[in-house]
Order: sequence, then structure tokens, then C-alpha cells
Amino acid sequence: MKTVEVRIRPLKLKDLDEVLLIEECSFRPPWSKATFLTELQKENRYYVVAEKEGKIIGYAGLYYLLREGHITTMAVAPEWRGKGIGKILLSHLINESKRRGLKELFLEVRESNWVAREMYQKFGFKMLARRKRYYVQPIEDAIIMSLKLRSNS
Ligand SMILES: CC(C)(COP(=O)(O)OP(=O)(O)OC[C@H]1O[C@@H](n2cnc3c(N)ncnc32)[C@H](O)[C@@H]1OP(=O)(O)O)[C@@H](O)C(=O)NCCC(=O)NCCS
Repeated sequence: MKTVEVRIRPLKLKDLDEVLLIEECSFRPPWSKATFLTELQKENRYYVVAEKEGKIIGYAGLYYLLREGHITTMAVAPEWRGKGIGKILLSHLINESKRRGLKELFLEVRESNWVAREMYQKFGFKMLARRKRYYVQPIEDAIIMSLKLRSNS
């Protein structure tokens, strides 16, 4: 498969309306603009967008503290899914986490979200635990996954 060329760059406040369009067709319940604004203003956050010809087609975020990181969100616009954008975003977050000296990454994913779980597994994430009834709309368990990081250098 030919990889789509995208630019990964930090998420800016002016991107939020475009990001919300993707958010609203990706998650139930979606994050609101206020939630994104609060996130972006907090310390120890790193949010990026995938941009193609000036249009935002995906985004992802990371929260980190000491040597641990937590992937807070990741989504690709429905019409761009299955073209390698998720892998580009995830490998960017992993490389950035290593660059920042993080030792382990964590995330939660809906149990039924096999597309995302497969992607995380391909990058070496392992199932760590289950968080019962963590999600709503519909109620569902979260699978907690983690990845130990080794530095690039
Ligand atoms: C999960 C998501 C971010 C993946 O992004 P994407 O750009 O579609 O993913 P990619 O094209 O890079 O594919 C990555 C891997 O996902 C899996 N995958 C992608 N599309 C798939 C499909 N239709 N069926 C099964 N597996 C699929 C494959 O393992 C794939 O790796 P491969 O290309 O080596 O086979 C995207 O589907 C999405 O936005 N989903 C809604 C939001 C969401 O669930 N976010 C994750 C929350 S934890």
C-alpha cells in the first residue's frame, strides 16, 4: 500500500473546529471544544494533527508525567481511514515520547474496537488490564494497554 503523505504538526487553537468534526464522528460521547481547550492549556500535553494539503485529516494527543505517558486520544477522518494515517500518528507519538525520555506509554481502548487494538498490538502494545464499564454510549469495558519504550539513541 502506498503511504499517504501527511504533515504532522502541533495542534493549534485555530484547528479545533476541524478537529471537532472528526471527533464527533469518531467517539461517543465526543469531547467538546471546552474539553479540548482545557487539555491544550494544561502542562505536560502534546497534541498533533495530520494535515494534508491544508486540511486536517487526523489528530492524536499525549499526556505525560515523570517517565510515563498516556495516549489521550487519536482519530482519523472516516474517509481517510485504512490508509496508514493512524500508524503515522502513532509512530510519531511513540518517537516523541522516546525523545522526551518516557519509559512507558499507556492507553485505554474500547474492548470492541478491534481496528484500534490491532494497530496498537502491531506497535508492541500489550494488554495490561481491563477497566469494567469504563465507557458509556454504549457501556463497555476498557482494555488498558501499555508499551515499554527504549530510547532511540
Ligand atoms: C483507530 C484509527 C485511529 C486507525 O486509523 P487508520 O488511519 O484507519 O489506521 P491505519 O490505516 O494506519 O491502519 C493501522 C492498523 O489498523 C488496523 N486496521 C485499519 N483499518 C482496518 C480495518 N478496516 N479492519 C481491520 N483492521 C484495520 C490494521 O491493523 C492496520 O495496520 P495494517 O495497515 O498494517 O494492516 C481510526 O480507525 C479511527 O479514527 N477510529 C475511530 C476513533 C478511534 O477508535 N480511535 C482510537 C481510540 S483508542
